[in-house]
Amino acid sequence: MANDRWTNPQKMWDERFAESEPVYGEHPNAYLSAQSQRIAPGCRILVPGDGYGRNGIWLARQGFQVSTVDLSPVGVARARNSAQAAGLTMAIEQADLASWTWPEAQFDAVASIFLHLPPELRPQIHARMLGTLKPGGLLIIEAFSPAQLQYSSGGPKQVELLYTAEVLRKDFVSAGVLELQQVETEIDEGRLHRGPAAVVHGVFRKQ
Ligand SMILES: C[S@@+](CC[C@H](N)C(=O)[O-])C[C@H]1O[C@@H](n2cnc3c(N)ncnc32)[C@H](O)[C@@H]1O
Repeated sequence: MANDRWTNPQKMWDERFAESEPVYGEHPNAYLSAQSQRIAPGCRILVPGDGYGRNGIWLARQGFQVSTVDLSPVGVARARNSAQAAGLTMAIEQADLASWTWPEAQFDAVASIFLHLPPELRPQIHARMLGTLKPGGLLIIEAFSPAQLQYSSGGPKQVELLYTAEVLRKDFVSAGVLELQQVETEIDEGRLHRGPAAVVHGVFRKQ
């Protein structure tokens, strides 16, 4: 089962997002909402791996111009419905980030929240995140770290899918580091992200 999940991640995310309950809650990620204060009003933000849209929709409500891309057709349909119901104009696209045509130097910020990519894809996709930023643009990221394996508050169970500060520093070596922390914390984001947790999070600035 675990193998099937990760060899066919689209199926896994579709099943998860087909549940009536929003599994990561309806509120934005706390780190993202705090760090979004750094982004000027009206800026263009890309949210890769936005699932059913909780973060993108919240950012659009704050007045940012938001684009999202996610692998899961079920998540994307749900995000589109929520955006429409809220009267928000957003670009919500279904695609695999590994083959998506990333626009060059178009966004003021990128928000990568719990987007756990396999090591054969992660550096390439992280490089694309920097590439899609305008010079001076911000990359805000939060992911579970390997210490999360001791907790049952969510995240992948394969250590190679978990991120460390060292991994992020290396992937974003060409960017300035505004902050970067690997910490133990408490999360409360719906049924699948609740309780003590170990995360790495940071904000990088494209040079
Ligand atoms: C743990 S969920 C997090 C969703 C959202 N960021 C949130 O915090 O609510 C991970 C998301 O990444 C998406 N994802 C994983 N690999 C992807 C890929 N290669 N291309 C696009 N989306 C991907 C999944 O479809 C899923 O929606």
